[in-house]
Amino acid sequence: MQDEQQNAAAKATASPPERPLVVAIDGPAGAGKSTVARGLAAALGLRFLDTGAMYRAITLLAIEAGIAPSDGAALTALTESLELDFDQDGRVVVAQRCLEPAIRRGDVTGHVSEVSAHPGVRAAVVARQQEFGRRWDGLVAEGRDTTTVVFPDASHRFYLDASPAERARRRALELGVPEEVARIQAEIELRDGKDSGRKHSPLVHGAGVELVQTDGLEAGGVIEALLELVRGGGVEP
Ligand code: DC
Repeated sequence: MQDEQQNAAAKATASPPERPLVVAIDGPAGAGKSTVARGLAAALGLRFLDTGAMYRAITLLAIEAGIAPSDGAALTALTESLELDFDQDGRVVVAQRCLEPAIRRGDVTGHVSEVSAHPGVRAAVVARQQEFGRRWDGLVAEGRDTTTVVFPDASHRFYLDASPAERARRRALELGVPEEVARIQAEIELRDGKDSGRKHSPLVHGAGVELVQTDGLEAGGVIEALLELVRGGGVEP
């Protein structure tokens, strides 16, 4: 009896096991998610999970295998057969082959929205991402559905946004082609439409996800603002 009482008392006072820190960041192409998520992960001493790189990796390997981006069954089988992983520098790796920078090629970018729209592909990729969430000791994830589908219970969830013109300006500078900003803006708007309009896990600003508008802000300023929010300072960017 006394033992039971002692056990009950111990249960009542034991603090719950501490959960690893998971920060999820979503938003449209070119909102600066990747730079910000990498910087935040470094500042917090956490690993960085680039979820888009996983869809890009599947797209690259499908192109190499001659699988059409419309062939959902073949793409699902391909995805399920892969051991997608990341090296310590956050670069996507399959069978010890680092797929950076090939996954950033124009043909991969052109097909990745269609490839990532297949539900079988998404289910396998999301399961793998959640496995990283359990295996790694905390992480910062960025993508399109990390706040809503992959880690809806994340410690912190942010939606990073910027106007299409601002996102195109940044991308054009990054690529070293400032004169091509109009073409890049058209590409960004096309990809936004595909990512937001698809049936499965469309890009949405989920309920309860903190909106961070980054027009006119440098990446460093956004990282500082998110750090404040994660550490409980509550300062708006
Ligand atoms: O972030 P990115 O540009 O590397 O993403 C490439 C594509 O992958 C993007 O057009 C949509 C898709 N994607 C997705 O569907 N879900 C994610 N969590 C991340 C990316």
